[in-house]
Amino acid sequence: MTTVLDVQRLKDEGRRFAMLTAYDYLSAKILDEAGIPILLVGDSLGMVMLGHPTTLPVTLDDMLHHAKAVARGAKQALLVGDMPFMSYHASVEQAITSAGRFVQEAGMHAVKLEGGGRVIEITRRLTEIGIPVMGHVGLTPQFVHQMGGFKVQGKTDAQAARILADAKGLEQAGAFSIVLEGVPSKLASAITQALRIPTIGIGAGPATDGQVLVLHDMLGLTSGKAPKFVKRYANLAEEIARAATAYADDVRDGKFPGPEHEYSANGSAPATDSTRQGSPRTRGEASEFVGSEEVRYGG
Ligand code: KIV
Repeated sequence: MTTVLDVQRLKDEGRRFAMLTAYDYLSAKILDEAGIPILLVGDSLGMVMLGHPTTLPVTLDDMLHHAKAVARGAKQALLVGDMPFMSYHASVEQAITSAGRFVQEAGMHAVKLEGGGRVIEITRRLTEIGIPVMGHVGLTPQFVHQMGGFKVQGKTDAQAARILADAKGLEQAGAFSIVLEGVPSKLASAITQALRIPTIGIGAGPATDGQVLVLHDMLGLTSGKAPKFVKRYANLAEEIARAATAYADDVRDGKFPGPEHEYSANGSAPATDSTRQGSPRTRGEASEFVGSEEVRYGG
């Protein structure tokens, strides 16, 4: 299983690594089996899974629900739970309680928190009690209203100095890695060189130790023009639409289900074409669904 020590070793050995978001059992299982070393249950699920315009409406219960499913699917990856807006802002005690639930209830190995400043002290306290912390600076989506939108951060010298200072503070507080989001490549490079712990970039150029993308963006499941930093490795939205249309056409034309998809009664042949009308229940074959043949979802 990948641990925070392995992630540090990757940086020490100069080996670049990938992180992806995962929000459900099946995608976590696929990504885990594909060897992705870190899976982030990101609060971006609020946008890509739940249809919110920002990550702000996502609750701790939403996150735990998805994190539990991811933990059921992944066996090897380091699992990081994203602390949602208002789950760590009220006090250090609230942060400890929320982070503890990610580890104790949802099977996460680490948590991610956005921002520097007060988050540095929270990071210190969490790591002191054995909860590894991934920091996140630069474009921090939970600050969308303060940033005036999802805008690249660190373009001015003053902003860049602030982000570098926050990153150093998080490292000193015990963070095991830091996400750098939406910052100029030059700044990401400077931070990566200044830190002992690995940086993981998204919209931060090629110099970071690792890269992260939102799974649905890189699979081409999200629609519209992709942001500049996204590379689409598949076009699954089109593929799903094609498959759904083909299925609907087959149903309409009586081509699905075929004989190979049918159940037969004990000792008798599959239904003939003339009897193959309607669902098993309307054909009086409901008992086959509780017989010895396994009938379950998910392959
Ligand atoms: O919520 C998320 O998915 C993230 C990553 C994009 C870093 O924070």
